[in-house]
Amino acid sequence: MAIIQFPKDMKWGVATASYQIEGAVNEGGRGPSIWDTFSKTPGKIVNGDNGDVACDSYHRYEEDIQLMKELGINFYRFSVAWPRIFPEGTGEVNREGLDFYHRFVDTLIENGIEPMCTLYHWDLPQALQDKGGWDNRETIDAFVNYAEVMFKEFKGKIKHWITFNEPWCVSFLSNYVGAHAPGYQDLQLAVNVSHHLLVAHGKTVIKFRELGLEGQIGYAPNVEWNEPYSDNQEDIDACRRAGGFFIEWFFDPVFKGSYPQFMIDIFEKNGAVLKMQDGDLEVISQPIDFIGINYYTGSVGRYAEGKSIFDHERVDTGYLKTDIGWNIYPEGFYKVLKYISEQYGNIPIYITENGSCYNDEPINGVVKDEGRINYLQQHLVSLQRSMESGVNIKGYTSWSLLDNFEWAEGYTMRFGLVHVNYRTLERTKKESYYWYKQVIENHFFEV
Ligand code: NOJ
Repeated sequence: MAIIQFPKDMKWGVATASYQIEGAVNEGGRGPSIWDTFSKTPGKIVNGDNGDVACDSYHRYEEDIQLMKELGINFYRFSVAWPRIFPEGTGEVNREGLDFYHRFVDTLIENGIEPMCTLYHWDLPQALQDKGGWDNRETIDAFVNYAEVMFKEFKGKIKHWITFNEPWCVSFLSNYVGAHAPGYQDLQLAVNVSHHLLVAHGKTVIKFRELGLEGQIGYAPNVEWNEPYSDNQEDIDACRRAGGFFIEWFFDPVFKGSYPQFMIDIFEKNGAVLKMQDGDLEVISQPIDFIGINYYTGSVGRYAEGKSIFDHERVDTGYLKTDIGWNIYPEGFYKVLKYISEQYGNIPIYITENGSCYNDEPINGVVKDEGRINYLQQHLVSLQRSMESGVNIKGYTSWSLLDNFEWAEGYTMRFGLVHVNYRTLERTKKESYYWYKQVIENHFFEV
């Protein structure tokens, strides 16, 4: 038996995102987003699912907050739907949208839960996409304007802000792989989008500082760990390239004020150039207060000419997988945290997402999701190990409070600590919920 102990001031939370849980897409003056359009395009989402109703949290947020309170979390990471604030992306502010989030944030605070707000968790107003979306630099200004409205409105209430959730997904998964909205397959477009997101991030940080607001601001990239299959330099280099797609490309400009040359070269070899304007890098590299890390999985990989733009392929070395097919790789969590803190200075880190997909259903009102408990336990062991070795972890966020709309997978993949019956919208706490509650209460667990 070993005791895995966490510091008393460690913060614990859960996360969700607007389009994945809110529903009520035509209420409160909300405008359409690219996810409404994408999810209604035949063939894009498993079973043709969409977020029209989702968990109906727009109406049931009080019940959800009670679930959070009982869980004992310190903070709740949620996202604001930009099209609820600006139905057209720019122009007139929609008061009803702001009022909804005020009611919601007030209820959190009344219940002793700190709000951590993500400004962009993928629901770009469709009206902006119609003008080119993130390929168009005007979207940057629209975003900063939306952020400024949010900062001023929620001054003193929200003290933790995240500009972008998973910029890799917003750029490459959505515009190169094509699996997410808006669904293009164009490397040049994806590179443009990634750069514009980072510029928007930097400009938002500048705005936040100008307003002299109390609180902290950061962003939340998703990272994976790529372990070389062998000690051959070719395999090591291939994994570095594959990892650079997630890490260096999105971290170097923010922390070092430059893009990694090895990634620029790879993109150029594949016909995509990085287009910058004067001053962009200075904007992007504004000091931030913390970094959010989203970690789920990792893999072993090796050199394989032409297999991807990185001349890299994954090797299945037999890791157990969650129900979505992702390797369970807690060692990678430790390694990636060490790597980031060594490369980018010991900046405060919030784990803004970590979690697992297991599709267990209730049996007589009980959801025995042992897989999720094991996953959580193993990842918390790695996290604690990273903290002992000096990584500056401030908090941990479990994805997710609720089963919800899992993007291209629709409702088929469940990540919640709480089960949602999508027919009745009934919530049932899973065994993992009770396990996590114990950890939060005790600040330790035994393995
Ligand atoms: C990352 C995303 O931020 C979140 O929206 C998604 O549901 C989870 N990972 C699980 O895939």
